[in-house]
Amino acid sequence: MKDPVDLADKLALFSEHWSPKVVARLNDYEIKVVKLAGEFVWHDHAGTDELFFVIEGRLTIQLRDPDERRVTLRPGQLYVVPRGVEHRPVADGEVAALLIEPTGTVNTGEAGGGLTATYDDSLLDAPGTDG
Ligand code: NI
Repeated sequence: MKDPVDLADKLALFSEHWSPKVVARLNDYEIKVVKLAGEFVWHDHAGTDELFFVIEGRLTIQLRDPDERRVTLRPGQLYVVPRGVEHRPVADGEVAALLIEPTGTVNTGEAGGGLTATYDDSLLDAPGTDG
């Protein structure tokens, strides 16, 4: 039996921004927590949708879809960016968020660059998993 995962405990274990940490897996998907601050890079994920769920703070997701939409999320709100749609997360102050995406999804998608995160599942068995 797996033990419950405490997101607040997991978030207390790191401070760096734009570096998603795997906290759970289901089927071929991973649940990650991440801290965001300021503007990310424009990018897209050709092969997958990407779910953002805001835990703390206020996150705007800019979208290069036909409507040039900007979606602002408060704690408790989520948004799914469709596959292939260019997007840029912009954090107003610091934001803590949960991501759901297929295993192997890279944070900068097709764009690459200096903000590309190293795969990190070191929190899977760290404190915050009760028991
Ligand atoms: Ni993305």
